[in-house]
Amino acid sequence: MPIDTTKLRIDEFPWMSSGDTVYMNAASTGPLPQRSVDAQVDFTRRRATPHLVGFDDQFGALSRCRELVAEMVNASATEIGLAINTGAGLNLAAWGLPLGAGDEVVVPDSEFPANRYPWMAAAEARGFALHIVPLRDGLLDNDALLAALDRPNVKALSVSWVGFSNGAVADLDRLGAACRDRGIYFIVDGIQGLGAFTLDLEKTPVDIFACGAQKWLLGPWGSGFTYVRRDVMASITPQPVSWMAVRGSDDFSKLIDYDLTWRSDARRFEQVTLPYQDFAGMAASLELLREIGPHTVSEHILRCAHALLAGARERGVALVTPLESHAGTASVRPADAKAASARLDAAGVIHSVREGTIRLAPHCYTNDEDITRTLAAL
Ligand SMILES: Cc1ncc(COP(=O)(O)O)c(C=O)c1O
Repeated sequence: MPIDTTKLRIDEFPWMSSGDTVYMNAASTGPLPQRSVDAQVDFTRRRATPHLVGFDDQFGALSRCRELVAEMVNASATEIGLAINTGAGLNLAAWGLPLGAGDEVVVPDSEFPANRYPWMAAAEARGFALHIVPLRDGLLDNDALLAALDRPNVKALSVSWVGFSNGAVADLDRLGAACRDRGIYFIVDGIQGLGAFTLDLEKTPVDIFACGAQKWLLGPWGSGFTYVRRDVMASITPQPVSWMAVRGSDDFSKLIDYDLTWRSDARRFEQVTLPYQDFAGMAASLELLREIGPHTVSEHILRCAHALLAGARERGVALVTPLESHAGTASVRPADAKAASARLDAAGVIHSVREGTIRLAPHCYTNDEDITRTLAAL
């Protein structure tokens, strides 16, 4: 069933109903559904009187998030560690994986800095080398990444599922399978992919999937998760170490019976105290995506992105994101990007300019009128 965007806007994005604004910027920040706003406000209001917010509320919000994420990506909740951003999972990989002198980590060029700086810093401190794979025609080169895995001493590959500026898509199935064959850790920065795409981690062999919820998952700033595959959990040293990373730390009557035995699940990687109100909001956002259905959401987004790309091409605008392979991000390069951006602004189309391109990012609320208006302004 297609999404009833009119009803969805009334229920969850009431500010869109005025028609003043066309929101094409989920790749930057996803708008919060009303239920997510309500959940955060309600939690925060009760937080004014902390004694009225019980541990069940706090830890309940966290465990609901883990369950919802696990269901969305077909993993076990025990493989989900909540995190405040994408960088947490990428740093965990760079600093926590067993890497050292003589090892090599493969990263594509032109990654969002969240997937570059942690690797640069950890490489310098820990003595491993980075091998940067160049883009081809300005886009991620899946074949070159695969070829790089056959270099001697490669221990890890870390890649963005979807490129932040050009929307290029990494072939997670192919890259993951090749990593698994070679015993190479496969790390994915998933923030520009999940939501626009669905993911089945039983089928797609990712070891660490780092994902903030603030974009395509329509979650609050300060919410997200790190998935760590069960089989690799033991090989990662928790970084940094939270006081609730250890077994027995749920019992607040025995906190100083120190025992550095990690929890059996991915909560060993969480940084408690977490912003509970933000995770209450994230849970509400994920509930909405669950209600609509992640596949329905994805199909809708992909259809909208396709229409934007196809429409731009018909109007003679150069595409940066390939029409044949895209996620939710539609990046285009008009002859005069600055002027096009100004026209989009004047038409109330919220968009981003990244690396000289206009980046458009529709979501579940996008309707045909939004696409027509965006293309006309472009
Ligand atoms: C590919 C990619 N990774 C990471 C981020 C953000 O990282 P974090 O969630 O750590 O702020 C962004 C955008 O802000 C991004 O586009």
